Amino acid sequence: TRKMILDLDTGIDDAMAIAYAVAAPDVDLIGIVSSYGNVLTPLSAQNSLKILELLGQQDVPVFLGESHSSTTTHFEVMPISAQIHGKNGIGEVSLPTAKRQPETKSGVDFLIESAHTYGKDLIVVPTGPLTNLAKALKQAPEIQNEIGNVTLMGGALTVPGNVSPVAEANINQDPTAADQVFESNLNITMVGLDVTLRTLLTKNETAQWRKLNTVAGEKFADIVDYYIDVYKITSPHLHGCALHDPLAVGVALDPSLVSTLDINMFVDTTKEMWGRTIGDPARLTDQHPNVSVALTVNQDTYLKRFMTYFSELFSQ
Ligand code: BDR
Ligand code: CA
Repeated sequence: TRKMILDLDTGIDDAMAIAYAVAAPDVDLIGIVSSYGNVLTPLSAQNSLKILELLGQQDVPVFLGESHSSTTTHFEVMPISAQIHGKNGIGEVSLPTAKRQPETKSGVDFLIESAHTYGKDLIVVPTGPLTNLAKALKQAPEIQNEIGNVTLMGGALTVPGNVSPVAEANINQDPTAADQVFESNLNITMVGLDVTLRTLLTKNETAQWRKLNTVAGEKFADIVDYYIDVYKITSPHLHGCALHDPLAVGVALDPSLVSTLDINMFVDTTKEMWGRTIGDPARLTDQHPNVSVALTVNQDTYLKRFMTYFSELFSQ
């Protein structure tokens, strides 16, 4: 079976990414690496541990990753992140304190060791900044030829950004790291705003989780309803909340959910275009696409699968 590592800044949609990975058949979630972004790294790890416990997954280890970008020494949560995910990252819903703690091994070391152990069977799904993966590449460049695939949530090619006119939040946190990942030999699929803003969840769906009458169903509905309510204010033109991070997990497991464009991309780190993910005009004619960018998505198939997985998972 395929092995998956999630690299998360847990976050409400990151929490849904955990649930999707746990529920999906034919894949082992072998660990979660924690990142900064929606919350600080230690809180991201605690949130992942709490969500895993809520889902009865006591065996999935959680590792601490980097706590700030590769070009800074300090990180502060952006007000917009705290607004969208709540200060605690999970919609101000309280979950029991996790019984476990993060592992002592670092998230970066776990990424490197897993690449050595599982090679092409390994899928890495980063749904936060790409700082951990860039650091792993720097420490152990050979992993770029070992890992099967990296399917990341981040970037925007055909639509504007969400934290600036050109930048999507995850890439914006650490464009330098993102560019290093893009420039590597890794097999990369970019699941960006182009498709995640078209894959939406509403309270009709969360209401179905409540009907299951389980703690997991109830808590997840509380958490995601918070996110849906915020979207009504921040994105009134959308009818629901974007399934950014769980869509990346879905595409990682079934690439046929999206149509892709293979191009040579880079991440702009100039001040004016900070964090923009864009094709490289200097390399338009060379035959070396480095990223497969998701441009359209079969949202009906995805949503049906998402609901089947979640309902089964929350019924247990
Ligand atoms: C991405 O930014 C984070 O806030 C979300 O969890 C998602 O990974 C969307 O731009
Ligand atoms: Ca995220």
